[in-house]
Amino acid sequence: MIRKGIILAGGTGSRLYPMTQVVTKQLLPVFDKPMIYYPLSILMMKGVQDILIIIKPEDQHLFEKLLGDGSQWGIRISYKVQLAPRGLPEAFTLGRDFIGNDPVILILGDNIFYGSGFIKHIMQMEEEHKGASIFTFRVKDPSRFGVVNFDSNGNIVDLEEKPQNPRSDWAASGLYLFDPDVVERAASLKPSERGELEIVDLLLEYHKEGRLKAARAPRGFAWLDTGTPGSMMQASQYIHIVEERQGIKIACLEEIAYQRGLISFEKLKMLASQMGNNAYAEYIRSIVNDHEH
Ligand code: DAU
Repeated sequence: MIRKGIILAGGTGSRLYPMTQVVTKQLLPVFDKPMIYYPLSILMMKGVQDILIIIKPEDQHLFEKLLGDGSQWGIRISYKVQLAPRGLPEAFTLGRDFIGNDPVILILGDNIFYGSGFIKHIMQMEEEHKGASIFTFRVKDPSRFGVVNFDSNGNIVDLEEKPQNPRSDWAASGLYLFDPDVVERAASLKPSERGELEIVDLLLEYHKEGRLKAARAPRGFAWLDTGTPGSMMQASQYIHIVEERQGIKIACLEEIAYQRGLISFEKLKMLASQMGNNAYAEYIRSIVNDHEH
């Protein structure tokens, strides 16, 4: 079972300027909570309790103010500063000490996943995992993503980062499982033409050795994109619609912590009482009430 996770929450966010000029993208709201709550909730639901968040130097105090050391949710959060956005694989060199000899999940701080059975699916991926595993989704605009080409038997043929003429609709989402040798591999990668270390180059190394697996998401899962102002608004609307319709909250970290036994009922009650008057706190208080009666 993979117990360590890294969330990448640096980058420039320049596609969302001027929204991200002062506030980093992963702290912007997606409907009723900061964006980073969503990937963090996935790690918590999956049973990952050791989490490293990679951030820009100027954001450290903001993340610490929002998420602290994670102990309020029964998890351990630590932070590592990335001095410049040199690419996703830098997560592993920066995370060298954190990873040690253990496998790790990397999740991008701006990726939102949702769907019944999603966590089970990741667990299944994990069972078959050796080397590197990715989770692919069919998308309408593959040229904005890392694209995976499959042969007719579903085997990976190759991967391309943001191809102009994509040969497949299957995009690699921002959720990756890696063995600990990823640290050494990431350290020996060379920057691409655009001057970044590319996650696709890292994945191709595993592919060459027959150690890359790509799961294809079934239709029932949503992978929401927050790459443009329009897609960010759609993600907010999606979360809003599901939450309103079903009377549940997606990515309520206190609820997840309680359900997974990471915090006690008393702690849940205390957290609910400290949150003031808002719909999020109301929701947690309703969980407290349900359990008391
Ligand atoms: O969202 C999935 C896509 O993410 C994949 O399909 C692509 O293969 C992968 O390269 C990546 O593409 P993006 O263009 O979306 O990556 P972006 O530069 O936007 O960075 C993704 C997240 O990682 C974002 O939250 C910022 C953070 N980041 C990015 C870089 C380059 C860092 O923390 N450090 C970095 O150096």
